[in-house]
Amino acid sequence: MTPVAAAQFTYDELTSIVGWYVDMGVDIAIDEAVHDRFSEDSQKLAAPARAPVRPPAETPKRAPLARIDALPAPASPDQAIVSAKEISARAQSLDELRAAIEAFDGCNLKRSAQRTVFADGNPQARLMFVGEAPGADEDRQGIPFVGRAGQLLDRMLKAINLDRSEVYIANAVPWRPPGNRTPTPQETAICLPFIRRQIELVGPQVLVCLGASSMQSILGVNEGILKTRGRLFDYPMDNGRKIKAMATLHPAYLLRSPAQKRLAWRDFQEIANLLKVASA
Ligand code: URA
Repeated sequence: MTPVAAAQFTYDELTSIVGWYVDMGVDIAIDEAVHDRFSEDSQKLAAPARAPVRPPAETPKRAPLARIDALPAPASPDQAIVSAKEISARAQSLDELRAAIEAFDGCNLKRSAQRTVFADGNPQARLMFVGEAPGADEDRQGIPFVGRAGQLLDRMLKAINLDRSEVYIANAVPWRPPGNRTPTPQETAICLPFIRRQIELVGPQVLVCLGASSMQSILGVNEGILKTRGRLFDYPMDNGRKIKAMATLHPAYLLRSPAQKRLAWRDFQEIANLLKVASA
């Protein structure tokens, strides 16, 4: 697609172009200039010594959005993981961890997200949920699980006589992936030290991963969620303590496949039992 000057379109045409982008799933603008990332990558890989490719003369030269431009380039993924481990280990409280994550620039997702979505609920809770990553509503409000999936999670909690003030809720990745795509394995690996430290600082008795992505990164399981949900794990924290952990179906999946709610219902009954046993 070639860049076009907005002035050449009528208002109705521009509205229709923006509508088309929204229909195609484009819901954020990360730059004002069009880039062919595929050809940039292949040029870098195939001929690193070549002179930089200049934009065609007619390409409008606009400054990139300030927010994106202001962030330094992320470190290599390996360096980012090392740095995430170091700063997580240094955080002695949830407030320190939140500040450390907010200052961290090693994950690309932060460049397109509006906010760091850290947590909601009670930091002294005995039950902690970890979702996948924020969606659009969470990105706007900076609070996990506030959209439709979050409202379903609230109803699931109510079914076992709990509410948000009695649980702690976070995500395996604290920044919204563009277009709500699943975080890549590299993104979850970079963010893993943060959520591991967050779990340790909360110190719940029972940990519940919501959905496959959270389960795979936190419990290190590579099977599908339908096979693994409801199974009991001992989750080892870095301080040597082990807590009970389980994965269950993500509320967003349940909104798409309501017939599977019966499986989640079983899991929530088991979660309620685990809490009862832990407090006995
Ligand atoms: N889905 C998630 O996994 N986390 C949220 O916070 C919202 C939706």
